[in-house]
Amino acid sequence: MREELILEVIKERWSPVAFSPAPIEEYKLKAMFQAASHAPSCNNDQPWMFVYTTAGETDSFNDYLGFMAEGNRIWAQNAYAIIICLARTKFSFNGNPNRFSFYDTGMAVANMLVQAQSMDVFAHQMAGFSVQKVKEYLKLTDEIEPVTMIAIGSLGDGSNLSPEILKRDEKRRPRKSMNEIVFRNTLSNPAF
Ligand SMILES: Cc1cc2nc3c(=O)[nH]c(=O)nc-3n(C[C@H](O)[C@H](O)[C@H](O)COP(=O)(O)O)c2cc1C
Repeated sequence: MREELILEVIKERWSPVAFSPAPIEEYKLKAMFQAASHAPSCNNDQPWMFVYTTAGETDSFNDYLGFMAEGNRIWAQNAYAIIICLARTKFSFNGNPNRFSFYDTGMAVANMLVQAQSMDVFAHQMAGFSVQKVKEYLKLTDEIEPVTMIAIGSLGDGSNLSPEILKRDEKRRPRKSMNEIVFRNTLSNPAF
């Protein structure tokens, strides 16, 4: 396989638990959201929305941390920013359910993460948070669903974490091989 053809920013992205609370410049955060906005989406509906807070905004930051599962809060509290990703689950042009809203939002986040990586900004997404608490806090209507939360920051040295948690950063997470995920013509015929 020509692994070397894969873009460095894609290959080098990973989700650390060791964050440094050092501030990320606002223009970098903005560039990440702008990159997200360039993603394709079904009917160009752009169903994603992002709400974020930063460590300096103590009340909101602590509120956001409070939505997380304890296992995430323990490391995410060291991040500089926390983003809540939302999806509008109905098409704006006709109000019908948009079954691609999470897919599209994921694509926007993928763009965001590539942009972040290119600026040496790290991101760690989370499913482990209370959807209900976010819905209540942001006063979301039924048509807007929380999708993920994302901790954003610079890579830390891990001194703010227990060795047990820091261990998670020791190894990169393995990837499935091509023959498990890509097929030619039928699912019984791995393509590579
Ligand atoms: C939708 C989604 C939910 C995730 N939820 C969590 C989570 O709650 N806690 C966590 O530590 N990591 C979470 N992750 C991070 C994944 O575990 C991580 O992306 C995966 O293991 C691959 O590792 P990498 O991002 O370092 O390449 C989540 C990632 C995604 C995309």
